[in-house]
Amino acid sequence: MKFLTGNTEKDIKKILTQYENSRSAILPILKVIQEDYGYISDEAIEELSEILGLKQGEIKEVISFYTMLKTSPEGKYHIQICRNVVCYLNGGKQLIEFLEKEYSVKVGSFSKNKKLSLSLVECIGQCEIAPAVQINDDFYGNMNPEKLKKLLTSLD
Ligand code: FES
Repeated sequence: MKFLTGNTEKDIKKILTQYENSRSAILPILKVIQEDYGYISDEAIEELSEILGLKQGEIKEVISFYTMLKTSPEGKYHIQICRNVVCYLNGGKQLIEFLEKEYSVKVGSFSKNKKLSLSLVECIGQCEIAPAVQINDDFYGNMNPEKLKKLLTSLD
């Protein structure tokens, strides 16, 4: 069964006309798929490999290189905690423990109400305000469990 349909299919065709070869078009196409579906599923990768004439592994390689590309669904608020040494040693570890305890959300998974999801990421370029957290597209720094709780409450 066809997976990439409707506007997604139209956008993919349009992008392909703008690039010399299909390999160069991968990133903008993956961004479109993520915007339309929330993440890039195995079905999407399979179909895209046929459209682009590339191996699925080649597409997965691109996805794994860009942390903004997701291969699984996320909560309404996706929390990314920097696991690099600067953030981790300045309280990042406590933030993870706090989220697990207070919101029952585990790394790589959802909270019970599916509102929050949590992942650990490499440096997000906010080292000067460590420990840094990214929630969806926004960055927050100098975080501690109390500030994080207030922030999450304000997002409801
Ligand atoms: S080390 Fe955490 S943002 Fe750079």
